[in-house]
Amino acid sequence: DGLPMCKFQGFWCPVFTLHPLLCFQKNFQASDTDVLLASVPKSGTTWLKALLFSIVNRDQFPIDQSPLLATNSHRLVFSLECFYYAKNDNPDLGNVPRPRLFSTHLPHQALPSSLMESNCKIVYICRNPLDQFVSERQFLLKNRLWPDKPYGEVLSLDEAFDMFCDGVQAFGPFWDHLLSYWNASLENPDRVLFLKYEDMKRDPVLKIKKIAEFIGLPFSEEEEKAGLVGDISMLCSFEKLKDLEINKNGIHYGSVKNNSLFRKGDVGDWQNYLTPAMAERMKIILEEKLSESGLILDI
Ligand code: A3P
Repeated sequence: DGLPMCKFQGFWCPVFTLHPLLCFQKNFQASDTDVLLASVPKSGTTWLKALLFSIVNRDQFPIDQSPLLATNSHRLVFSLECFYYAKNDNPDLGNVPRPRLFSTHLPHQALPSSLMESNCKIVYICRNPLDQFVSERQFLLKNRLWPDKPYGEVLSLDEAFDMFCDGVQAFGPFWDHLLSYWNASLENPDRVLFLKYEDMKRDPVLKIKKIAEFIGLPFSEEEEKAGLVGDISMLCSFEKLKDLEINKNGIHYGSVKNNSLFRKGDVGDWQNYLTPAMAERMKIILEEKLSESGLILDI
């Protein structure tokens, strides 16, 4: 949607992330205790960052004193290829508290070799593509400056959707992105946990327990009895995070405000923007691209 992109290593890469991600691929040294969150943008990254941070650091402070209450989760879980990385080709990540929590939008095959060879855990969050498309379009329309330059012409909804259906989107095509992690999770379920936004919304407590187990930090019986899982779920809920002062008025980067990371947080919001014919077109694409994989996305 007006965001300059180029085809790179088989995926559509926003031009402004090209340099940082090359540095990331070349210089990043993974550790076996690292936890990497991977996603297509607008699939629930901000939410999962908050959850991972809260699960990993639950012994460090009581819920009502969580740093999340005063800090956007993108400042607590470092986005490895994000554009400010460009300002420093090889940042010192040695001081990041362990287990280190990172995020990336790279597809699985483009991850740095050091990450592939390590035993670090990868948590992947995906979302129904129609909601993801709407979320991304609303985000780009709200943030016309990207990140400091005019982000270019605004495409019509039909044009933008055509491009999306052709696989032209940041880090897409989405089906390749999803399948890269889906297949990795089938090959190595101890290494890659594949989550869906819709399942997380349906039963966050169940999924939080699953994530904690997966990263080797299961909740104890005492913690469960004390209601800690529910407390983390509430702390990281859309409603709670959206209303925090830091997320209402804080700056994400450049001119992009934290509040643009919290829009509706609903499942099925696409119905307010897209026609049944568009949904039908997407169903056919999903059938063609995903049916053999066994991955089912609910539209
Ligand atoms: P909507 O635009 O549909 O509301 P990302 O974090 O990957 O950029 O994804 C952003 C989407 O996740 C937005 O979707 C945003 O509202 C939603 N979101 C942000 N925080 C959330 C939370 N705590 N729980 C559920 N959804 C959340």
